[in-house]
Amino acid sequence: MNDPAPPPATPARRLRRLSELPGPRGWPVLGVLPQITPARFHLQMQAWAAEHGRCFRLPMGRHAVLVTADHEAVAQMLRDRPEGFRRTERLEEISLEMGLKPGLFGAHGETWRRQRRMVMAAFDPGHVKAYYPALLRCGQRLLGRWQRAAAAGETIALQPDLMRFTVDAIAGLAFGTDVNTLQSDDDVIQQHLNQIFPKLYRRIIAPLPYWRWFKLPSDRALDAALREVDTAIDGFVAAARRRLAEDPARRAQPRNLLEAMIVAADEPGSGIDDAQVAGNVMTMLLAGEDTTANTLAWAIWFLSTHPAAAARSAAQARAVLDAAGGDLARLTVEQLSGLDFIEAVMHETMRLKPVAPQLPLQALRDTAVGDVAVPAGGVVIALMRHDSIDKAFVPRAQEFLPERWLGEAGLSATAARRVSMPFGAGPRICPGRYLALQEMKLVMLVLLGHFDLRRVATARGEPPAEELKFAMAPVGLDMVLAPRAG
Ligand code: HEM
Repeated sequence: MNDPAPPPATPARRLRRLSELPGPRGWPVLGVLPQITPARFHLQMQAWAAEHGRCFRLPMGRHAVLVTADHEAVAQMLRDRPEGFRRTERLEEISLEMGLKPGLFGAHGETWRRQRRMVMAAFDPGHVKAYYPALLRCGQRLLGRWQRAAAAGETIALQPDLMRFTVDAIAGLAFGTDVNTLQSDDDVIQQHLNQIFPKLYRRIIAPLPYWRWFKLPSDRALDAALREVDTAIDGFVAAARRRLAEDPARRAQPRNLLEAMIVAADEPGSGIDDAQVAGNVMTMLLAGEDTTANTLAWAIWFLSTHPAAAARSAAQARAVLDAAGGDLARLTVEQLSGLDFIEAVMHETMRLKPVAPQLPLQALRDTAVGDVAVPAGGVVIALMRHDSIDKAFVPRAQEFLPERWLGEAGLSATAARRVSMPFGAGPRICPGRYLALQEMKLVMLVLLGHFDLRRVATARGEPPAEELKFAMAPVGLDMVLAPRAG
């Protein structure tokens, strides 16, 4: 029997070289670095993409980087990890220089594999369920805080209050530590943490590493903050080790992420030491707070400007809360998970306002991104929002329509799911995504189940500006609540 004829050979693709691409012009040596406004960098990228196309060349320092907004090329690149791409050497260099202990976000190669195994063991669904009562406690405290504000008719600074919730939730869930920023106004750890990510981000894109020659007051404050946070984290790790030693049965059923990480690290051959455990404690604190708090702030703003979606979300929250007898403490994981419209609100919010609007990666071997050749060592910045708000890829792309995620209103969820990647994609997709969704649904339940939104706005009544500080935040949103009328 004859073999079937081989398929026709695909003609070799001619790849474009980076130097052939259009893009903004920069200064000699520094490129566009002096033109970058850190808080608006993602908007500058957006404007350059509008001018030069979905794929352009950006001179940054001595090297040019490739910027791509093509979601298919981005997805392919994100999936080609850890072998094909890593996070950038620049991120690693600046984090190490700042004194950050190595954690999953910045790790690569075999270290990343080992750490990812440990972190994923901690996010095992069975474990996450065991952390649930701690999450509910944070929800109850947030409720108390907002009830007091509503009774006094006070204006709530939205993003900072949500940060208190996410700090408490992550510290409680992740480390079994009750930092309770929701009930105290002068917590230190949050103030210290607030300095670290923005500074890391600014240093990564700084035209000159001035801090290597002299330190501004903000650089000295950063050093002090890092020392304080390190001490706090060493304390969390020591306390968790003590608990495990006093009650060895906990090893089979760790009560929080840190205990689960220590158990995984203590497995023979794990290759993980306490410095890496501490590095991942820091990573969780940094990766899980602003991201979740900012996404919530954007979602609350969207609801305040979309009454139909707000009414449907409130009806769902109230039905679930009433089914739990009006008592947050009796809310089950299943009831929280079942808030499908509210989850759709979060997905739609992240499509329009992804808090990580760009992801820089570095090639580990000669490769191609779309039709552009990228040499080993080349940096590629993925623009995560361009295609997901383009009607060529997502119907009615500019509109806030949570129902699209439920396949309603004649809109298929598939298009949005394929294009919108707020948690990244591939082997390095955000390991905290389900936890983040549960946290966000709980906050929405507290808010919409107990209160009526009186006002959510900026001081000037304009839509909030987007500010990039590593995670992208809405600027200056205030909220006034009244106890639920109906
Ligand atoms: C709305 C909330 C969140 C958003 C939008 C978000 C987004 C992201 C994105 C875009 C990445 C990069 C993914 C990639 O490279 O493909 C990431 C990575 C990561 N996130 Fe999240 N995240 C959120 C919440 C959390 C939470 C709550 C935690 C932990 C408690 C967390 C921990 C991490 C870690 C450890 C990584 C690094 C993973 C790796 O490199 O292997 N994130 N996240």
